[in-house]
Amino acid sequence: MNLNIALLPGDGIGPEIAAQGVAVADAVARRCGHSIHYHTAICGAEAIDITGDPFPEETFRTCMEADAVLFAAVGDPRYDNAPTAAVRPEQGLLAMRKRLGLYANIRPITTFPGLTHMSPLKDDIVSGADFVCIRELTGGMYFGQKHQDSDSAYDTNIYTRHEVERILRVAYGYARRRRRHLTVVDKANVLASSRLWRQVAREMEPQYPDVVTDYMFVDNAAMRIVTEPCFFDVIVTENTFGDILTDEASCITGSMGLLPSASTGEHTPVFEPVHGSWPQAKGLNIANPLAQILSVAMLFEHFGLNDEGAIIRQAVSASLDANVRTPDIQVAGAPHYGTTDVGAWIANYICHA
Ligand code: IPM
Ligand code: MG
Repeated sequence: MNLNIALLPGDGIGPEIAAQGVAVADAVARRCGHSIHYHTAICGAEAIDITGDPFPEETFRTCMEADAVLFAAVGDPRYDNAPTAAVRPEQGLLAMRKRLGLYANIRPITTFPGLTHMSPLKDDIVSGADFVCIRELTGGMYFGQKHQDSDSAYDTNIYTRHEVERILRVAYGYARRRRRHLTVVDKANVLASSRLWRQVAREMEPQYPDVVTDYMFVDNAAMRIVTEPCFFDVIVTENTFGDILTDEASCITGSMGLLPSASTGEHTPVFEPVHGSWPQAKGLNIANPLAQILSVAMLFEHFGLNDEGAIIRQAVSASLDANVRTPDIQVAGAPHYGTTDVGAWIANYICHA
């Protein structure tokens, strides 16, 4: 297969982990006879510095012309304590989601045997947890009408039937390919927008008699994720709830540095780690590249290249078994490996295994 990938390394540790994603994608391509062409584009703080826009037109065009986007991270401490800044790096991410129509954000939460001791949860609670959070990504409060003056402010949590139906279809599709259990997470006891979600879900439920659908309030879901994560198979929820629940869910696996994601919708799909740009680690060669590398696995799988995805997953497991790990997940007494060492080890494993 011929793949054109738009590569958006972004800020902070972004370029370092993106390079490892590329090394692994190239190793898979060599082994399986694919050819990948990369088109690098700027975004985030770097793009603000150069063009004033965190998602410049040229980057948008590069994304639109590609088969997939491999994205790393954006963010810069210069903007964190600047509430009056006119533009922020994160707006580049939101613009990318909106302009590419990426309404479905897929965040798998998987635990790795041998890493569960790093989880803040007890081993027996977290062991075997394996679920996917399907987060609606282009609607709700993030994009609804906003207002702010010195006395009052609001964000409008607006959803249309069409937006709810299409994300539920994606979620049911995942449930059918997994353990056939869908949990619709909302706050229907308080919010009108949630009542629409629940109404639409109840209407669609009979079309999927092979899937068990249940409904859970978001506060209860937040609790259940830490008390009984193995309960879940597929969670579907709106943008803001999904943002919060996926941060919570990601850390129960032991390290945020392990979790990949895919965002799909109307135009080019985007594959990116769930974690951010970790500016303090920039240039130190300590960032964990596994979330980025597993995002490459999701990229291949998106194109039906499941063997390629499996090769990457197996290589990642092998690196963990061999204790070739960055400091965030390294075991006591084992040697130090940097970002580049882990990426190179996995790429080499793929070429020779
Ligand atoms: C995420 C992030 C973003 C979000 C930020 C960086 C705007 O937290 O992808 O979860 O809130 O969606
Ligand atoms: Mg988030």
